[in-house]
Amino acid sequence: MPLPSTARIPYGGDYNPEQWPEQLWGEDHAAFDLAGIDTLTVGVFAWALTQPDEDTYDFAVLDAVLARAQAEGRQVCLATGTGALPPWLADRHPDVTRTDFEGRRHVYGQRHNACPSSPAYRRLAAALAGAVAERYAGHPAVIAWHVNNEYGGACYCDLCAAEFRVWLRDRYAGLDALNDAWNTTFWSHRFTDWRQIVPPNALSEHWRGPDHTAFQGITLDYLRFTSDNLLRTYREEKEAIRAHSDLPATTNFMGMYRPIDYHRWAPHLDFASWDNYPPDSRSASRMALTHALMRGLKDGQPFWLMEQTPTVTASRDVNPVKRPGVMRLWSWQAVAHGADAVLFFQLRQSRGASEKYHGAVLDHAGRTDTRSFREVAALGGELERVGDALLGGRTPARTALLFDWDSWWAVEISDGPNRHLRYQQVLISYHQALWAAGVQVDVVPGTADLSGYDVVVAPLLHMVKGDLAQRLAAVADRGGTVLTTVLSGRVDENDNAFLSDVPGPLADLFGVRIDETDAQPPDVVNPVTLRSPDGAADELLAGATTVFDLVLPRGADVVGTYGSDFYAGVAAVTRNRVGAGEAWYVGTCLAQEGVDWLIRRAVDRHGVVGPYAGVAGLEHAVRVVDGRRVDFLLHHGDEPVEVAAQVAGEDLLTGRRIEPGDRLRLAPIDVVVVRAG
Ligand code: GLA
Ligand code: ZN
Repeated sequence: MPLPSTARIPYGGDYNPEQWPEQLWGEDHAAFDLAGIDTLTVGVFAWALTQPDEDTYDFAVLDAVLARAQAEGRQVCLATGTGALPPWLADRHPDVTRTDFEGRRHVYGQRHNACPSSPAYRRLAAALAGAVAERYAGHPAVIAWHVNNEYGGACYCDLCAAEFRVWLRDRYAGLDALNDAWNTTFWSHRFTDWRQIVPPNALSEHWRGPDHTAFQGITLDYLRFTSDNLLRTYREEKEAIRAHSDLPATTNFMGMYRPIDYHRWAPHLDFASWDNYPPDSRSASRMALTHALMRGLKDGQPFWLMEQTPTVTASRDVNPVKRPGVMRLWSWQAVAHGADAVLFFQLRQSRGASEKYHGAVLDHAGRTDTRSFREVAALGGELERVGDALLGGRTPARTALLFDWDSWWAVEISDGPNRHLRYQQVLISYHQALWAAGVQVDVVPGTADLSGYDVVVAPLLHMVKGDLAQRLAAVADRGGTVLTTVLSGRVDENDNAFLSDVPGPLADLFGVRIDETDAQPPDVVNPVTLRSPDGAADELLAGATTVFDLVLPRGADVVGTYGSDFYAGVAAVTRNRVGAGEAWYVGTCLAQEGVDWLIRRAVDRHGVVGPYAGVAGLEHAVRVVDGRRVDFLLHHGDEPVEVAAQVAGEDLLTGRRIEPGDRLRLAPIDVVVVRAG
């Protein structure tokens, strides 16, 4: 199913007017007119109002909000309203609350607080979704369904234990298969009855916390189950909607969010959407990675940026304002990487509770002459000018970065070799190198079709499932380049080690055998000398930390060698020639300059390095819309830059005509969008 059909990039965001006096609604809409806001996400937390008790629906408020939206010519992304439970639900059905990792049964409070196994929760959430869809299916303002909100967390109650057993029976042919998968003979855990299986938490297999488990197989399956069990509640709401409406449905994801395997969810969303709240203001490449991950969920189809703050967050210890231009730059960055909507959380600031200081398009006073409102309105003007010119654009990437939730989980719940190894950090580092080189990157699951890629970068591919090893080999055979790192090719889908040389099914492709793997505290640095494998006088000394494979080449050329410890002189990085292609193995965690150096050498022969590589702070992203190429120049740096235009075309934000070679000037925190033609 396609995305919601819109005439231009939807602009607006979460709009909760049920939380303030109706006299202000007119002021809201007048401000939306000023800002070019055409899209409202309505009803995300409206459950308690829409259903004041189990037997009553009351649509008066939603009716009024939607009628007003329609009258004002705005379109609505309508939420099912199940993002937080009403008190009566927990009061009447105590099993809707969760039991936490420590085994504590929670009482009513907060949000994201529903046990996904609770029959009452499942029944009533789906019923509400159905009732909302039934009432508003034909409403002229409604263009999309927003199911629940930011699914997440886990529950360890008895109902979940029972559902876990059902999930396991479905996954394994029988207890023998399960015992084998979990390697239960270790520590005398052979299960002889399904009822002996309990959720892995602080009371059972875990010590120190959720990442420290005695049985990785059990914990891994509970992570998978938790993701699937939450997915079931999403699907139940979506099916309830489908009984009344064919409009596209989504739920807002959170980017690199470990508890949910978004790749397993993606087929059940009509379009992907996500909420961008980066950890700090220096995360440009990380945001690009996350946008690409979200775009990869639906095979490169555009997604919606469902939320971002126009100004500040409130949930952090320290919540800095977005500096002038940053909101605009990050909005265009989202569009550059495939967003077909730019939406905020939220349109008017909450007057109370935990988000009263969270930024919004309108502040508590409803002012339209603040710095942030002016920037919101200016961006609205740019989006109006761009019209439908970017909708549906695809990213023409020939480079893929593999992202795998199973590997993420397996690496981080592993005892050994090093707790300091973090999946996201390693992925971010390889992506950063590609980003700095201006390489257009798709971020895809291991099950993706790799046949269209010249370069496949697969850091920390810890778990190798299905025929992935063969498909990676095929990339190299036809002349492509494959790159992987330390701790790849280690375990099968059950997190059991391959009973073969490391890196298991990847060993032939990379032409190496790992003799042993050392680990050191993060402050211990082993200097690695990187040398061009082709003999060019091209050398870099880069620090390596955390984990250190002692790599024995079995056909591969040595690219990097350790400088210290008993393995000084041993290979750390190799390149294997395979067929017409290459397979690079990086047996340690290299400092960023080392990763940058390697990536440049590994991808260079494919001509994927961008024209502005090396211009500090300048990001270059490309979309192709109806066969026409659009270049986005996104300048994150503090100094102005000037670069040459690559193609003839039009600057979409100013209307200016551009010829190849023209100087394009970008101020710090600035954007240029050039459509070829
Ligand atoms: C999330 C939620 C919103 C709001 C914002 C605040 O993204 O979906 O309801 O809490 O965070 O940043
Ligand atoms: Zn539960």
